[in-house]
Amino acid sequence: MVQPNREVATLWYKDAVIYELHVRAFHDSNADGLGDFPGLTEKLDYLRDLGITAIWLLPFYPSPLKDDGYDIADYAAIHSSYGTMSDFRRFLREAHHRGIRVITELVLNHTSDQHPWFQRSRRALPGTPWRDFYVWSDTAERYQGARVIFKDFERSNWSWDPEAGAYYWHRFYGHQPDLNFNSPRVWRAMRQVVDFWLRMGVDGLRLDAVPYLHERDGTNCENLPETHAVLKRLRQHVAARYPDRMLLAEANQWPEDAAAYFGSGDECHMAFHFPVMPRMFMSIWMEDRYPMVEILTRTPPVPDECQWAMFLRNHDELTLEMVTDEERDYMYRVYATDPEARINLGIRRRLAPLMGNNRRRIELMNSLLFSLPGTPVIYYGDEIGMGDNIYLGDRNGVRTPMQWSADRNAGFSRANPQRLYQRPIVDPEYHYETVQVEAQQRNQQSLLWWMKRLIALRKRHQAFGRGSLDFLAPANRRILAFVRRYGAETILVVANLSRYAQYAELDLSEFRGRVPTEMFGATPFPPVGDAPYFITLGPHSFYWFALSEAATEQQPPSSPTRKSRAE
Ligand code: GLC
Repeated sequence: MVQPNREVATLWYKDAVIYELHVRAFHDSNADGLGDFPGLTEKLDYLRDLGITAIWLLPFYPSPLKDDGYDIADYAAIHSSYGTMSDFRRFLREAHHRGIRVITELVLNHTSDQHPWFQRSRRALPGTPWRDFYVWSDTAERYQGARVIFKDFERSNWSWDPEAGAYYWHRFYGHQPDLNFNSPRVWRAMRQVVDFWLRMGVDGLRLDAVPYLHERDGTNCENLPETHAVLKRLRQHVAARYPDRMLLAEANQWPEDAAAYFGSGDECHMAFHFPVMPRMFMSIWMEDRYPMVEILTRTPPVPDECQWAMFLRNHDELTLEMVTDEERDYMYRVYATDPEARINLGIRRRLAPLMGNNRRRIELMNSLLFSLPGTPVIYYGDEIGMGDNIYLGDRNGVRTPMQWSADRNAGFSRANPQRLYQRPIVDPEYHYETVQVEAQQRNQQSLLWWMKRLIALRKRHQAFGRGSLDFLAPANRRILAFVRRYGAETILVVANLSRYAQYAELDLSEFRGRVPTEMFGATPFPPVGDAPYFITLGPHSFYWFALSEAATEQQPPSSPTRKSRAE
């Protein structure tokens, strides 16, 4: 991979565009009804063409698949349905050849109850090292301060194991016992897992469910100092051996607690910004910038080398854990009118259905995802506006096969349709005969092409990934406006959250004399003068303006030229 300099190489995650996918759902090369690594490798050119720079792979390890692979039975192998280790290595090599990095899952908190470690632990005598691999207790009374996360499925974080004659602790499903991070052996075992994948060349690890590593009576068993100590140790280990690799925390927490996973630059490089996500959905429905501005304003600054991961949707429900009760009620009322769409504390829907399949809304949400501070993460299929199926169990409705074409099985697999791990979407509005890659590749006005242009434009400006954030405060609250600055680059983003046309007066006095240049079309707008900058926006429309010093040298607006189009 060609890298311009070391600094860019080690901070690659700051300029990245990440694409999240499940190998099972992407492309099936051997007609057995499940996606696999050879199939994914065949589709790497599609991903390069889309413009993404990193792939985040959901778990692909041997597993009973009761939690879609987050129930791991062997950390150092590939689930046989998805291919072999050499298929994985080839995929990794081919991704790297195309300049695409690969991020995999490190599920530290728990294993499957089928993992040999748990099988040994439940049979081991109390007080022995094997028994201590997991969290056992004679009573189910300890750690009462910890909430139950999968509240639709589990009533307690303790389950009784008749074989051990004791209760074991689990923050998720009962078949996912939590590892005991008080045991030095657990740390050593996990370190070996990390070495195994990083030595092979994996570029980053998403640390699943990381706030729950340690538990302590009298606390809510989340974000404990002991847990942060594990992460500091992990970071030291990684930094000493694999300097350009990245650790990404999945900590579904309020901004202050999530930011704590950066440590002082000595824990994770990245962390998901969970609370901003539902507030983006709230803002667009309420047509009011307040929810977003409020949460971003209270988000603490992050250490220099750190970065937020931003997302709209992912493989889980749209989580409503980090909102108030009123906000949750509101979100359910407007986005989950069908009760089937609700699960745990969230909504199991994809982006397009949440946006009422309205192209303008989908574009607006993506424009925010790509212009707010942080690194954007796209969920597979959302780049073509795929639909979902809320009637499938658990979160499976957002995990259906990628829609490649109008062919049988959406071009995902040549298998007998009855053999597919799940049928592709046939909802009339999102049917794979209409919503699919092949058709959208042919039509340059499609969402897919729009996403390609968005990604390409973002990648040309480091200010999006690295710049500071300053909000403007126009009187019209339906308008969200902010400035991103990095080095010589200054970018002004103005978005209309309303479904009706709006105007706003922006205080751009700081930029007096500059010519805002709309970045997609390289179109100069009137220069900033002494009066407030007056701007009108169509329904749900947005502008990205370059305000860099160089822009002042552009043609005056009276004779606009179109030197180069952004695409
Ligand atoms: C994370 C994953 C989710 C999984 C859970 C338990 O939250 O995103 O899919 O069910 O961890 O491993």
